[in-house]
Amino acid sequence: MANTIPCMKLNTGHSMPALGLGTWNYRLPGIYDAVKTAIDVGYRHIDTAWVYESEADVGKAVKEKISEGVVSREDVFITTKLGNYFHDPDEVAVGLRESLDDLKTSYVDLYLMHWPVSLKKAARGVLADDTDYIDTWRAMEKLVDAGKARAIGISNFNMAQVERLLQTDGLKYKPANLQIEMNPYITNTELMQFCLEQGISVTSYSPLTKGVADYQGEGTFNILEDDVVTKVARQHSRTPAQVVLRWTLQRGCAVMVKSCSESRIRENFQICDFSLTNEEMAAITNLNINQRLVKRDNMKSFPWYPF
Ligand SMILES: NC(=O)c1ccc[n+]([C@@H]2O[C@H](COP(=O)([O-])OP(=O)(O)OC[C@H]3O[C@@H](n4cnc5c(N)ncnc54)[C@H](OP(=O)(O)O)[C@@H]3O)[C@@H](O)[C@H]2O)c1
Repeated sequence: MANTIPCMKLNTGHSMPALGLGTWNYRLPGIYDAVKTAIDVGYRHIDTAWVYESEADVGKAVKEKISEGVVSREDVFITTKLGNYFHDPDEVAVGLRESLDDLKTSYVDLYLMHWPVSLKKAARGVLADDTDYIDTWRAMEKLVDAGKARAIGISNFNMAQVERLLQTDGLKYKPANLQIEMNPYITNTELMQFCLEQGISVTSYSPLTKGVADYQGEGTFNILEDDVVTKVARQHSRTPAQVVLRWTLQRGCAVMVKSCSESRIRENFQICDFSLTNEEMAAITNLNINQRLVKRDNMKSFPWYPF
């Protein structure tokens, strides 16, 4: 079986590669090299965000691969996200401008509202702001019309918030994508099915429960050490990470996975030359314990907090 990464058709008509390289952590060293390696390996989707402070490294790496003739700008699907400080409708275009400048590109393929929550900067930490995400969405629609975002979408929205967006009269565009935490310990099945039925593609983030090398917090579980996953991995002579990434694709979702290690970037790409049986899919899905790692507790009391 050839290892061809599928593309998902967005409701805008654009194609989105279903596997992407994640670039989260603040000022993470190694992102520039990781993006260049990923493009050489064959990744054609890079996920970043204003808040990650990785956009400049992503932009530099993509530009270099374009000047080397490895890819053209059209070949690379770039997703970035509106910072929570730019929700005021007058600020939305400013937020994207900052991202485009750092990414060194005139447009992004997908622009996500990172959270439904709007924030104001404060001397210490952040303050709540009550800007309604519907008003922010209207301003994001203008970015599509201006040609600066090919598609727009949402992230970290709950079901009621997605439904409210879809039911609001007078909006021009439906979200093309919802990006949410999804792995076998938080399957988000109901929300996923609802979005897919509505023609909204779904993307998993933190697919490896942040992996072995990252902070997971006390009392949280690492999916890469799960007995069911490791058994399936042995049966297919694959790694637990490959099994979990494959599970996500077979659910009909896209998946963004972060790695700064060349060998793991290669490993995570090799997920389309095998498939899981229906029984294996069901056994992995049954591991759900609704373990959420990305909670942003500092926003818990704020308007529109989703969880
Ligand atoms: N929309 C949102 O609010 C949101 C929130 C979180 C994340 N995201 C996006 O989703 C991306 C992925 O999520 P994430 O970074 O939170 O977590 P993740 O991809 O689940 O895990 C990343 C961690 O796993 C390790 N890893 C990667 N491949 C591995 C493998 N094959 N075997 C063992 N360990 C492996 C990485 O270490 P090495 O680098 O050493 O390989 C890294 O520490 C982010 O980078 C970001 O782009 C979006």
